[in-house]
Amino acid sequence: MFNVAILTMSDKGARGEREDRSAGVIRELMAQQGWTVAGYRVIPDDYDTIVESLIDLVDRGQHDLILTTGGTGFGPRDNTPEATRAVIHREAPGLAEAMRLESLKKTNRAMLSRAVAGIRHRTLIINLPGSPKGVRECLEAVLPALPHGLEILTGRAVECGKP
Ligand code: MTE
Repeated sequence: MFNVAILTMSDKGARGEREDRSAGVIRELMAQQGWTVAGYRVIPDDYDTIVESLIDLVDRGQHDLILTTGGTGFGPRDNTPEATRAVIHREAPGLAEAMRLESLKKTNRAMLSRAVAGIRHRTLIINLPGSPKGVRECLEAVLPALPHGLEILTGRAVECGKP
């Protein structure tokens, strides 16, 4: 059982003008894993706000995993990857590579994703796209490997053992 936070980047969502259906998909998939969503925030796409929120969630929350949604594309307000890079200590590129690899089987627009994954202290941060469909496809791509990665990261397992 892991402790998860969802951070939604959406100017419209933060103003209450858009329902956050992507967070609903994340909640559904986390419930299937038996993991607890203990934190949830909807914030605007400002770089500084994202950096502050990520640092606060990692350093003051007790989250093993933070799943962000939105702000990973080419738009002028898509700041999530840069803000994530600013707070992580170690990048976990395989997760973003796996998400793009699997997503490309569904849509060639997956190559427009600039999503980043990485580790700050003992918390893993993964950027997901903004659409509910994209969230589902990307999360399903990495979920099979996440329990083991989180066990190692949080010290609940010390050896990788055999695959
Ligand atoms: N990945 C998956 N699996 N499915 C999708 O539909 N949409 C792409 C991409 N990744 C998509 C996806 C599109 S259209 C964009 S623009 C980028 O994610 C960035 O999305 P975001 O700006 O909402 O974060």
